[in-house]
Amino acid sequence: MSDLYDAPLFRTAGHQVVDRLADHLERMQARDGRAHPALQPLAAMQDFTGPMPAAPAPDALAAVLRHVDDAIDRTMHLHHPGCMGHQVAAPMPVSALADFVAGFLNQGMAVFETGQIGVLIERQTVRWLADAVGWGAEADGMFTSGGSLGNTTALLAARNLAGDGRSWTDGVRAEAPMVVLVSEQAHYSISRAAGVLGLGQANVIGVKTDADCRMDLAALRAEADAAEARGQRVLAVVGSACTTAAGAYDPLVDIGALCRERGYWFHVDGAHGASVLLSPRYKHLAAGIALADSIVWDAHKLLSVPSLATAVLFRRGGDNYAAFRQEASYLFNEGAETAFDLGLRTLECTKRMLAFKLWLAFQVHGADALGEMVATMHDRAREFAALVAAAPGFELLLPPESNIVCFRRDGDDALQEALRARVMAAGAYYLVQTRLHGRIWLRITVMNPATARADFEGLLEALQG
Ligand SMILES: Cc1ncc(COP(=O)(O)O)c(C=O)c1O
Repeated sequence: MSDLYDAPLFRTAGHQVVDRLADHLERMQARDGRAHPALQPLAAMQDFTGPMPAAPAPDALAAVLRHVDDAIDRTMHLHHPGCMGHQVAAPMPVSALADFVAGFLNQGMAVFETGQIGVLIERQTVRWLADAVGWGAEADGMFTSGGSLGNTTALLAARNLAGDGRSWTDGVRAEAPMVVLVSEQAHYSISRAAGVLGLGQANVIGVKTDADCRMDLAALRAEADAAEARGQRVLAVVGSACTTAAGAYDPLVDIGALCRERGYWFHVDGAHGASVLLSPRYKHLAAGIALADSIVWDAHKLLSVPSLATAVLFRRGGDNYAAFRQEASYLFNEGAETAFDLGLRTLECTKRMLAFKLWLAFQVHGADALGEMVATMHDRAREFAALVAAAPGFELLLPPESNIVCFRRDGDDALQEALRARVMAAGAYYLVQTRLHGRIWLRITVMNPATARADFEGLLEALQG
């Protein structure tokens, strides 16, 4: 029988796995290899059809290394400077180590007893992020498994606090009809949350955007007035900071003011862009975010930690409990230590030490370095946009606010798709496409501070041929 807890194997394999990952990182930084393997699922699946192995591998160390090598080979190479596809982080090695350690230590996190230092770290990290928002001592929150779940949790709190608060016990039908107002370009997790929460996707009203892809304030007011005239309660307005496709920041100051004036819950989906709060040069993009009642902030996007690490922050910390339990006062009466039982605030019961990988990066590198990394990605996106604007035969959708740039070659949608397919097949660059204003745009997201002007020039050249 295989020794399932073989410490010497763990030691040897662990060292060699880290060596391989470090070699991979160096190769990627040197642009040695592909940015993306561009596997075709049906063909690639042929290697994954065998039965579950019943017997141990003849050589355990060799088996670990062979399969790790294969995984390295057949994945998106996020540390390759030519990899500029989706908003997926190129993880900082220190954070990847923290994630590995979190997996091994495997704390439960639902109650303090099962989380211990993991809970303390999460509480401190939440405090740091709430401070970065500019909120006071009353603010609180937790970490959860991704921005989609984070948005759902924040809207669940809003739903449970709305009206008589009977949604939790008696179901949403016990309440007056509720709508959520959100940019028509918002991430689909908002509409999915409405489906999950029993609000109904049809009750998510997509507010028109302006030419800069930002929510149009007059349209927001008009939609809110119309909903109220129909007898619907505006449960929440969701501001995107920023949108996924174009990287546009909704006018949070104005949306926040409207929400205050009318008593609407203001949720900011800062999954992608809240990280600008750590950059003195770019935090103005998120101006108004402190007006929110709740914020979602993904560290596994611009803060370059491995997935997943989503902070859900509440301006009034007690609102967090409303997501899963109606009677916050009952919990607080249980004493100050209740705040350490994180499972009261999350959909998860068992949860990884999600904040550890961000906390360790702050401890090792410092917040200034993370803020500078975010700023660099934004600087680079502007550099790319300037190259596109100057290149004959290319069109820029917008001067980028974030690290996301949408552009296209002169020609129809089919040409954009064909160009992307060709570039991906060649392997030096990974870019994606998105549909906006009725047309397909090529899209890059600069997620790696090592991506430089030469990569942009190479990409444009590859798209020109
Ligand atoms: C604006 C925005 N919100 C939410 C999400 C969903 O986050 P996650 O992928 O962590 O569930 C994304 C993902 O791209 C996003 O861009």
